[in-house]
Amino acid sequence: MQKIIKSLEELENWRSNLKSDINFIPTMGNLHNGHIKLISTAKKDNFNINLVSIFINPLQFDNKSDLVNYPKTIENDLKSSFSNGADAIFIPSTEDIYPPNNKNITFIKASVELSSALCGLNRIGHFDGVCTVVYRLLNLIKPKNLYLGEKDWQQLLILKNLVTTKKFNIAIKSIPTVRDSDGIPLSSRNIHLSKSERKLMRFFSNELLIAKKIFKQEEKINIKKIIKKLSAEKISVEYLEHLHPYTLQHAGVEDNISILAGAIRCGETRLIDHVFLMKRSPIIAIDGPAGSGKSTVTKLIAKKLKLLYLDTGAMYRALSWLLIKENIDYENEKKLQNTLKNVSIVFKSNTNSNQDVFINNYCVTEEIRSQEISSIVSQISSIKEVRQFLVEEQRKIGKSGGLVAEGRDIGTTVFPDAELKIFLTASIDERAKRRKSDTKSKDSREIDLIKLKELIKKRDLEDSNREISPLIKAHGAIEIITDGYSINEVVDKIINLYNNNVPKEIQIQ
Ligand code: PAF
Repeated sequence: MQKIIKSLEELENWRSNLKSDINFIPTMGNLHNGHIKLISTAKKDNFNINLVSIFINPLQFDNKSDLVNYPKTIENDLKSSFSNGADAIFIPSTEDIYPPNNKNITFIKASVELSSALCGLNRIGHFDGVCTVVYRLLNLIKPKNLYLGEKDWQQLLILKNLVTTKKFNIAIKSIPTVRDSDGIPLSSRNIHLSKSERKLMRFFSNELLIAKKIFKQEEKINIKKIIKKLSAEKISVEYLEHLHPYTLQHAGVEDNISILAGAIRCGETRLIDHVFLMKRSPIIAIDGPAGSGKSTVTKLIAKKLKLLYLDTGAMYRALSWLLIKENIDYENEKKLQNTLKNVSIVFKSNTNSNQDVFINNYCVTEEIRSQEISSIVSQISSIKEVRQFLVEEQRKIGKSGGLVAEGRDIGTTVFPDAELKIFLTASIDERAKRRKSDTKSKDSREIDLIKLKELIKKRDLEDSNREISPLIKAHGAIEIITDGYSINEVVDKIINLYNNNVPKEIQIQ
């Protein structure tokens, strides 16, 4: 049932009768399609109750006339929220949120690092005001999920920091900036723009898009040139900065993803926009021993995030298969080098929506899973020339990114600059049990559990002690021990981590 809640008492009653968790969408009203997208995304995400709040927070306005002129469209807001997935709308009074004598109020200071850049430079106290109201609302509403737009990227980072430092058990979900048909990001303040001012904003947003394209080709950006171009159009630029997307410190040459963010004045109205600059699309690196659940998890992640799936283990197995089949003396460097010159490994989707692996045009998907290959692959993978050759091949496949790769040295050697590095593991007992029930591997099913455990221990020892690219946790990798977790739980965990490290705006939609 759709409910309008107008006081703290009503909120408390409503909450105490709820049987589900809450998705919370805070707003200041005058809802546009960006807000609607937040509400409808929350609805689609899960079966929780969707609560939208409408409260114009005086504490976050650094300019009195902006507060007075802030557009109020409550009737439309109620209609559009309810018809797009809101279950309840909370419209508190100022006294509810800020009781007289500041009773129950904790004034929050936003993270200094995150609020000193960009909008924080000129809007003194703005982010403290945002944090104070959101902290109050979170304590009153106690949601499971908080939905925020990436349009206000700096606000999103500051609120993520608030949720972490105040130890709220709340997940923050974000949605990409929603733009009008002319490319301008939707904002409640857009209605203040005259026709000519809107034209200026359009020019600004378009310049950011052009910078993004140039960066992809040239991997550099000329801020002064952009400001000059904007000034020539009589656009008053408050700031335009190229920063690291999560720390908001100056972007470094090594950063694959960075943010170009700016604020301009169009008449009385101040508007912000940004683009994420990328040298290549994001990469997820998943390393770990056999039986950790790596392959199943990686395949599902690739499917869910629409990323390419790169099974590097299959490449080592395919090469081992070829060396054995063609009876190559792989310990003879010259002979091995000659063979490698003519090796081609390709992956192709098959009719079961899985991948087949081909080496020199042989389809070896099934055969590379035999015990014969399992027992030799570790030894062959420790040969320097083999590793150099396959690492090179893997980097070629991953040159433009947009993939999730699984293996044993992805985070350490192949893609050390991956946006997310995972070290997936499980106890030997658990891995042996999984191996035994692996329907793909007939041989494993026929070996008894004790023998399987010994084989796994031996493989671990070989993999983690080999001289080149040993199986170790990469710098910055997050270790996940999968014992006791379902596959879907592990997949969700990794996707949440990915969403924390990669803006939704640049994820493949
Ligand atoms: O982004 C907004 O609309 C506001 O800053 C918020 C998060 C609702 C707090 O007042």
